[in-house]
Parts: sequence; C-alpha cells; structure tokens
Amino acid sequence: MTEHQAELYQQDNSESSPEEQAKRDEYRRRLAEYLKDPAFRAIEGFPIGTDEDILALSDPPYYTACPNPFLPEIIEQWQQEREEIRQKLGLKDEKYQREPFAADVSEGKNDPIYNAHTYHTKVPHKAIMRYILHYTDPGDIVFDGFCGTGMTGVAAQLCGDKKTVESLGYRVDENGVIWDGDKAISRLGARKAVLNDLSPAATFIAYNYNTPVDAHAFEREARRVLAEVEQECGWMYETWHPHCDDPQRVKGRINYTVWSDIYICPQCGAEMAFWDVAVNQEKGEIHESWNCPTCATVLSKSPAKDSGAVRVERAMETRFDRELKQSIRQPRQIPVLINYLIGKKRFEKKPDKDDIGLLQRIDDEEIPYSLPVELMMFKGENWGDSWRAGVHAGLTRVHHFYTRRNLWILAKIKSRILAVLDERIIGLLNLWFNSQLVNISKLNRYRPGVSFPYNPLSGTLYISSQTCESTPFSAYENKLRKLLDALSVISQQKASRVISQVHSSTYLNNLPSNSLDYLFVDPPFGANLMYSELNFLWESWLGVWTNNQSEAVVNKTQNKELAEYQMLMEQAFSEFYRLLKPGRWMTVEFHNSQNSVWNSIQEGLLRAGFVIADVRVLDKQQETFKQATTTAAVKQDLIISAYKPNGNLEERFKLKAGTEDGAWEFVRYHLGKLPVVNEANGVPAVNAERQAFLLFDRMVAFHIQRGVMVPLSAPDFYAGLEQRFTRRDGMYFLPAQVAEYDRAVLDSGKPTQLSLFVSDEKTAITWLRQQLDPASGGEPKTQGDLTNDFNRVMNRAKHEQPLELIELLKQNFLQDEDGKWYVPDHNKASDLEKVRQRALLKEFKEYTESSGRLRVFRSEAVRAGFTDCFRRQDYETIIKVAERLPEDVLREDPDLLMYYDSALLRKK
Ligand SMILES: C[S@@+](CC[C@H](N)C(=O)[O-])C[C@H]1O[C@@H](n2cnc3c(N)ncnc32)[C@H](O)[C@@H]1O
Repeated sequence: MTEHQAELYQQDNSESSPEEQAKRDEYRRRLAEYLKDPAFRAIEGFPIGTDEDILALSDPPYYTACPNPFLPEIIEQWQQEREEIRQKLGLKDEKYQREPFAADVSEGKNDPIYNAHTYHTKVPHKAIMRYILHYTDPGDIVFDGFCGTGMTGVAAQLCGDKKTVESLGYRVDENGVIWDGDKAISRLGARKAVLNDLSPAATFIAYNYNTPVDAHAFEREARRVLAEVEQECGWMYETWHPHCDDPQRVKGRINYTVWSDIYICPQCGAEMAFWDVAVNQEKGEIHESWNCPTCATVLSKSPAKDSGAVRVERAMETRFDRELKQSIRQPRQIPVLINYLIGKKRFEKKPDKDDIGLLQRIDDEEIPYSLPVELMMFKGENWGDSWRAGVHAGLTRVHHFYTRRNLWILAKIKSRILAVLDERIIGLLNLWFNSQLVNISKLNRYRPGVSFPYNPLSGTLYISSQTCESTPFSAYENKLRKLLDALSVISQQKASRVISQVHSSTYLNNLPSNSLDYLFVDPPFGANLMYSELNFLWESWLGVWTNNQSEAVVNKTQNKELAEYQMLMEQAFSEFYRLLKPGRWMTVEFHNSQNSVWNSIQEGLLRAGFVIADVRVLDKQQETFKQATTTAAVKQDLIISAYKPNGNLEERFKLKAGTEDGAWEFVRYHLGKLPVVNEANGVPAVNAERQAFLLFDRMVAFHIQRGVMVPLSAPDFYAGLEQRFTRRDGMYFLPAQVAEYDRAVLDSGKPTQLSLFVSDEKTAITWLRQQLDPASGGEPKTQGDLTNDFNRVMNRAKHEQPLELIELLKQNFLQDEDGKWYVPDHNKASDLEKVRQRALLKEFKEYTESSGRLRVFRSEAVRAGFTDCFRRQDYETIIKVAERLPEDVLREDPDLLMYYDSALLRKK
C-alpha cells in the first residue's frame, strides 16, 4: 500500500461515526416501512425481489435497490448546498451560458476504475468528466438515467480531484480555476450526481464505485475469505504431475481445464470430442469441418451451403441435478486438457483417471451452501433473445452456467461474504464476487491461439463447443489487486455526493421538476444489447432482478419492436425534459449502426421538447469529430447536444406561436446557444447548425413538435435570415456574435467546408447550393461543370425516384447567358419555389389517389404533401400515406417520421 493510499484509508475510517451509523439505521428502518407499502412496490420498474433481499442490497439513503423514497429531501438539501457554493464563487444562474460540446467518449479505457467491473457497454469516467466540467459548476447536480456502472457519478465526484483533472491535460490554478490552454473552462469542485438504472446489478456496481469504503478493512476481509475457501476447496484444483501413475508424481495447481462438447456422426453413429476432431492445438486453429474418424464423412457443426458437409448431432446425457434433486438432460461435455502450475512453471496434460475421479467426487457430494437455481429469466427453455437453439440446449437455470466445482467454490465464497459484519464491506465484497461471475462460468471460451485467460463473447450469453473452466482462486486474487488500485482513487470521495437507485427512467416520480443542472445519458440502443438477460446471472447471485417491463429495448421475447422502444425512449426523454432546469443541456451518447434507431431517439428528443443544437460523429480512425448533418452518416458513435429552451422562450413562443415573429424568436434564441467559433480538433470548421438549411429544419421541428403551424416557406425563411442576421462563410450569426467570429478568422484562417452525404432531393439541393453560392465558397457553374461531381457524391436511396441533375437545376436555380447556373435572389427564389411546390403537391395528390404500397416515389413530394396536410390539420391523409410507404423509409427519414408521429398524436 502506498503512502497516499494509507492516508486515504485513514480519511475513510472517519466516515462511519456512531452518529452516521445511527442515521443509516434510521433510513434502513424507513426503507423497510416503504417496502411494506403495495403502492410503493407498484412503481413502474420496481425490481423483482423480496423485501429482505432488497434491503440487504441497499445502503439507504445513498443506495436503494428500488426507487429511492428519500430523494426529494436529499435534492432539497443539495440545492441549499449548491446555493452556498455559488454564493461563495460568485456564480449566478441567470448568467449561465454554455455552447454544445463533444469529446471522445472512449478516453480512459485503461484506467483501473474503468476495468474494475466490466459491463456490456461503458463510457469511461474520464471521458464524462470533460462534459461535466464544460457544462457545470461545483455543487451542480448531474443526472444519468441509464447509468449502468455509474461512471457519470465517478466523473462528477472526480471533478473535485485536482490530480485527476490535471490528468486530462488541464491546468488548475491556485484559485481552483481550470484552464484548457489559455481558456478558463471550469472550476475545481465535486458535482453531485443522481444515478438511475432499471437493473439492480448495474446500480449495485454504480453504488460501489461511488461510495467511500475502508479499503484496508475490505482487503483484510477479502483475503480472509479467500484463505478460508482455499482451505476448504483447494483440493478441487489439484492435479498430479506428470500424471497420477508416475512414481515421481507431485501435486500441481490447476489454472484451467478445457471442456469439449461431444458430437455424433449422423452417418455411422460414432461419438467424437470436438477437441479431438476440429481443433488444431498446435496451430491454435479451429476447423469449420472435419472427417469422421470412423467413416470419413465430412462433418460440420453448421455446414455452409453447398459445402457437402453433414451436420453433426450433439451428444446428450441424462444426469442427476443435485441442486434440483431431479434428472435433467443436457449436452455431454468432457474435460480434455488441464493447464497447471508446479511452482511458477506451467504444464499441460490430458486429464488422467485421478482427475476424472476428483470431478466425480465433487459431482457426488452435496454443496453445503445456498446458491441460485432460478430458471433463466424465470422462464427456463427459450428464455430470451440471447437464447440460441443448440448452444443453450438444456441450460435452463442459473447454476447450469457453471461447472459443479466452480459452483461449489462460488457458493462457499458467497456464504463467507454474507458472514462479514460491516454492511459496506459486504457491499464491496459482493462487487468483487460479482466481477468474476462471467469469467469463471461456462461463458468463458477456450480459444487456442489466445493467451488471455478470459474470453467470454461480450454482449451475449454464448457458450462455445470448448469452454475454459478457470480457477476462481487466481481470478479473485487478481481482481482484488485491480479493485484496490481503483479504490485508491474512489475512496478519496466523501459520502453523500452520489445517489444510485433502481427505477425506470420512463417514470421518475421521486425527482422534482426543474431540479437538475446537466444530464449525461448513454441509453440502450434498440436491439444492440439485452441488458436484463445479460445481467440475469449477476442479479441471481444478488437476489434482486430487473423488472424488464419498461426496459427500453427491441426484443422479440418481450414483444417489443421499434415502436415500443421508441415509445419508452420518448417517455424517458419527457421525464428528462421535466427534470432538467430550463436553459440547461443534455448530452446523449449514441452508438448503433441503424438509422431507424437513431431516428427513434431523435424523434423522442424532439417530442419531449428538447432542441438539438449539435450532432457530432466520432471518426474512430482519425479520432476526430465530424459534424453529422444527415442521419445517413450514423455508423459510429454520435454525440448529441440538446437543450431545454428556457421558460422565457417557451412563454414568448406561446404568445406568438404560428407567426413569423415566433419563428424568428426561436432562431434568435437558437443562434445564441450555438458556438460562435466552431473547431474540429483545433482547426476552424464550418458549423452546419448555423447554415440556412439546418436552421430551417430546426425551426420546422420546433413548431411541429409543439403542434404549431410553420409560418414560413423555405425561400421566405432564407430571405428573412439574410435580413435579420449577419452571414459569414455561409453561416448566420447574431449581430453580437460577429466580431468574435471575425477575430477568430483573422487569427486562425477561414473554416473548412463540410462534406455532405447526398442521398435524396433535399440533400442534393443543399449540395448544389454549396457549389453555386459564392457565399458558401461556390460559384456559378454549367451543368457540365457539375455532372461528374454530382454523380460522384450522389448515393441515391433505393426508394427514391431517379434524380435528374438538369431537373434539379431548373426547379431551384436560374441560368445566366453563359449557361451557368446560379442561386436566385429572394424574389426569384420564391417564384421558383412556388412553381416547384405546385409540382410537388400535384405529385403527392397522385400518391393519395393511388392504392397499395408506394415503393418508388419522390420523397420531396411526400414531404411537401405532409407539410401541406399538417398546415390544414388533415392528419388522416398523412397517416394513410405514411402507412403505405416502405416501413424502413418511414423509420429512416426523420422529417417524414416527425410528421407521421405528430399526426398520430394529434388525431387521437
Ligand atoms: C448503454 S447502458 C449504460 C452504460 C453506462 N453508460 C456505463 O458506462 O456503464 C444502458 C442502460 O440502460 C438501462 N435501461 C434500460 N431500460 C431502462 C429504463 N427504462 N430505465 C432505466 N434504465 C434502463 C440498462 O439496464 C443499461 O444498464
């Protein structure tokens, strides 16, 4: 232990004074009372578990493995503390002003804190710290509604830790001001955090990461547990070297045992171990197909089409399940390789008769400790979307995921942990215990070419044909060291800054409106990961499970499709909107390759009332951020910055809604929220959010989501922008912003232009404007000048009617005497637009009069038709036409989806 660590432990010990303990006891008593109330237990997302187990897992008031009934009082206290801090620092809420912000969300993946407990996806705390420092001040309250392992809480607390802040490359001066180069960006000081997740396993990890502990006592207890378990179960991991019949034999210590599936040749009925026939142990390769050792038929587990190979059958066996006291049928597996140590030297051997005898002995005895035997997802067979036929044959219960030897050792460790007296220490011991539950289960694949001892396939519950049964002893020993490393940072934190609770974000009844200063969320994304299934093993050992009724996921077993997912996300965003203070920001981190899921998220955000101010995509190869202007670019991590308009704007807008004044009021406010100088990694870049076409989209969305008619056509809007605001490099600025922008250009040069993804008429027109408008760096051009580039950038969606360049030019631009096309002035543009609109609406009318699916069409015509119907409140036509469009088009086109959803909402 370093001196620094020792000092910290000292500090932690002082936390649990008798008064503190008495307070905690009182909270526990109150929580027990709440748990008896059926109305409390009926709250949406309330976990599955007995009162006793929920209480045992909780550490009220800071952690409750259920909705936290003490939150209102804690938030009130935090608000007071915040006021005091702000007064001291001279900060005023009315002066709060921040710009959207994006930073790499993978920074800090090697940190011991990040690695202490895995999760299916994780945003490292160091990455989140940059966001919190940017958007908040000391004492502010941060919220994460899908907190997973609680990295947002760790980040919030460590904003008060000078060393960690400096490790991000910032400088902290003697007044606690944090500098990024020559720019003061924030102040040193911890922020408070409320962490929320539907999963008890997730919040339990989050709690442990965020609550001080006497690390010394933890280490002592962990070592005591390990020693006791070793004493009782050490013999289970012994083997003879070189083998049991050798007269010179000595005892070795097993690292791991490889188990192989047994398959049957359907041609001759011969049985074979996968290990013997399909694995080249020397080269570390696994063959797709092989010859039956008896009849030479070409065999495979999953024969490729036309390969001529025959599919093997899995050998099954009936065995007595001692935990259930009944016979069960499961695939047969045999041990094929033992890797073991003599001193520090590693050896490998084929299991001999004593090894087999030892396994038999373990099988024949009763495990004298309690362990989880629940049916997977409380269902058994075919238990979820992670379930795979064949792979999970016969694996219906939690304990089936472990070899009996490891099950015994785990049950023993758990029983020892529960015998410890200090509740906080039990918590951390349980975290330590849970952190290896996957690595020492049958999910650990044996991969011959890979030296790393733990190879479970992340994000699934996949069991391979050759599993690696790792020894729990070294697994826990190694993890203990890693946890102590992480604790040396975590345990610096004082208590009471972070609350973790199990609650559904779709209904956060215990949090007051307008109470939070910043939200960072990394939501579940469609069908990417089935959290409640993946967390089931952990939760079974904790005795409290996710209630997945309101889990935001696309999942067949739960009967949830994209529409259900979207509805849940929208409910969550509506709650987030309610909780956030007006004028404040939310960052949504998004990673999913499906546009439809991204559109659901975007639609949910807008419907909830948020205004999106910036969308950035992380270019992983170059580690830079690009602005995402169309949804078609969504293949990587996206950072969405959205804000809740302040009360003044909403009030003023209500008075002027549907008028041109109302629209300009919004644009003015929105421009005020955007950064004046846009940099992409130190280089000035054009900000698409300030360009006419995106400002128009944002203005339209703001109206539609509030059920208000859009008062301006595109040309009128563009002309109005020119009159009211100042244009620079194709972007619009408030008069007060121009000087700063000009200064920046003088200092750093002109910004680089954005590249556009052109897939339809709308984006094609935007691209053409860029090419032809001198204000955007273009110039008048002939059709011939444009053709090659147009063909190169155009990537027409399959449902889109073919787009002729000449038609686009004729309908939107004018031609001079030299045959060059140019951007018309406002009056001419308006005339052109009117003619174009008429043509589009005529086309739309044809769609409304036809019947059946619309497979190839002009989406601009549908858009124009929807805008027109919405203005006339003809919601029925929007719905009818929308439902005839290909489903994926509707999901993937954010404009069409917005009109369809709004029409559905208003028709009811
Ligand atoms: C992408 S993960 C968050 C991971 C987290 N950022 C981390 O670093 O560990 C999404 C989380 O959303 C949770 N979740 C799903 N539906 C929810 C709901 N309705 N309310 C609250 N949490 C939910 C899942 O349990 C999962 O932990």
